[in-house]
Amino acid sequence: MKLLVVGLIVLSGVGINVAPVLASHESLSVLLPADPLQGSRLFTGKGCLRCHAVHGVGGTAGPDLGRRVLNRPLLEIAGVMWNHSPGMEHVFQEKRVPRPKFEPSEMASLLSFLYYLGSLDPPGDASVGARLFSEKGCQTCHSLGGKGGSVGPGLDKYSRYTSPLFLTAALWDRGRPMAEAMEKLNIPRPTFQGTDISDLLAYIRAAGGGTERVYVPPGSPKRGEALFTKKRCVECHSVRGHGGNVGPDLGVTLKGSLMRIAGSMWNHGPKMWAKMAERGIQVPVLSTQEMSDLISYLYFFQFIDPPGDARRGLAVYKEKRCGTCHALRGIGEKVGPDLAMVEKLDTSLEVITGMWNHAATMEEVMLGANVAWPILKGGEMADLIAYLLQARGGAPRSAGSKGPEPRGERR
Ligand code: HEC
Ligand code: HEC
Ligand code: HEC
Ligand code: HEC
Repeated sequence: MKLLVVGLIVLSGVGINVAPVLASHESLSVLLPADPLQGSRLFTGKGCLRCHAVHGVGGTAGPDLGRRVLNRPLLEIAGVMWNHSPGMEHVFQEKRVPRPKFEPSEMASLLSFLYYLGSLDPPGDASVGARLFSEKGCQTCHSLGGKGGSVGPGLDKYSRYTSPLFLTAALWDRGRPMAEAMEKLNIPRPTFQGTDISDLLAYIRAAGGGTERVYVPPGSPKRGEALFTKKRCVECHSVRGHGGNVGPDLGVTLKGSLMRIAGSMWNHGPKMWAKMAERGIQVPVLSTQEMSDLISYLYFFQFIDPPGDARRGLAVYKEKRCGTCHALRGIGEKVGPDLAMVEKLDTSLEVITGMWNHAATMEEVMLGANVAWPILKGGEMADLIAYLLQARGGAPRSAGSKGPEPRGERR
């Protein structure tokens, strides 16, 4: 699993290409982030949670990472961490906590978890949810907190769920009988936009009075990819050109957070069911975890690192003045290690990890040398890595460092 993230990062670090890139499905498939669950453990284990909250839960010394700062490609997320290294370092010293160090494989999991955080919506607003619950007709058919109709089952039991994913899976699975009930009662079938589903859940949680908290583990894009075939979505949908063409190419049309994607699945439900019936495909049943994996997979296609460009990377290397301290193959300054000779700098992940682990010493030396902390924007991290790996000679290898180079976007 981890290798896939490694693959992603390695891949984004190579290749010369013109953006925007619509790479083939095959080359994208090796790029999927791994299961972020391990990364969520590291986020706690390495102390990130002591300073960072996620949607209000956690420490306050650093910014809340639930704000939309992480909805970007993996290497850009690594760039954000790098950019804020000095700011974090000050707080590490103030609080006397050691700077957390990483192995490249751990960095892969952590980045994959941060990427997952970027896919989440903030918790919903219960008062907005209350209005939606009556406007969209839910109240006419469902009881909640002792009020409401009895056409459908009571919804109090959903109040123990912390994630709107539980609601989306249930809405999908009961969608057809629900649509029939609506037709019978002449209630227009509601659609979901923006944060509607999160707001509805917030209201259900408040009104249903649940005290238990049931969590869903982060979805795995990689498992989602397998489900996309297993649940036969692929017979009608392409993802970046690979698959059927009865429905839209989901690698191209879908935008926004996980909940927006789940919402568009619901909104297009009736047309999908009709097409499924035509083709003798059963409406697939999706568990909450499966829904989570599937939409995590579909989310991914919006945020793919454009492949790094070694030529642009050289410009970044010069502009950010890395060469003030580093030599490459013996040529240049020797304040820091020779970046072409140092061991274990053969993959994008190893470069990112090395930069993070050594950031404190680098900052000290930079202060002395009057070099401003280099801020890496957009694709600059990817370009820089492409340049460094090229300067080191050999073809980039995976973190295991023996495997063949993944099929890539090199053209
Ligand atoms: C001792 C407290 C502390 C710890 C531990 C810590 N951080 Fe930070 N972090 C901060 C502070 C303070 C900032 C803001 C720095 C700045 O303004 O440049 C920050 C900024 C960030 C940012 C940029 C956020 C933004 O809004 O742009 C990211 C991403 C981040 N940290 C990730 C992490 C991760 C991942 C870990 C665990 C490996 C971690 N931090 C551990 C204090 C901490
Ligand atoms: C016209 C009546 C009607 C309306 C309006 C309606 N539902 Fe339903 N709903 C049903 C019926 C009937 C079922 C049970 C379907 C089945 O399983 O056969 C159901 C099932 C559900 C379930 C699954 C319950 C379970 O535990 O199996 C959820 C969750 C749900 N509805 C939420 C909503 C929400 C949220 C709204 C408003 C956006 C809504 N419903 C609007 C009739 C309705
Ligand atoms: C029998 C064909 C068929 C199957 C199978 C199918 N879909 Fe669809 N899907 C469609 C069609 C057709 C549309 C467009 C419907 C419309 O225009 O309202 C669509 C629309 C969508 C949309 C909204 C796209 C957008 O651009 O907003 C999503 C998301 C989606 N499908 C996801 C899935 C997933 C996930 C699966 C598998 C669990 C799946 N579909 C299985 C035919 C299918
Ligand atoms: C002011 C001097 C200075 C500048 C500018 C500088 N570095 Fe460094 N760098 C160092 C020093 C010193 C070390 C060794 C730190 C240590 O021993 O912990 C280092 C270590 C590293 C490492 C880890 C090497 C290893 O052993 O794994 C990498 C990767 C790295 N730098 C990349 C860069 C990049 C990329 C830039 C430009 C964006 C840069 N450095 C700019 C001084 C600098």
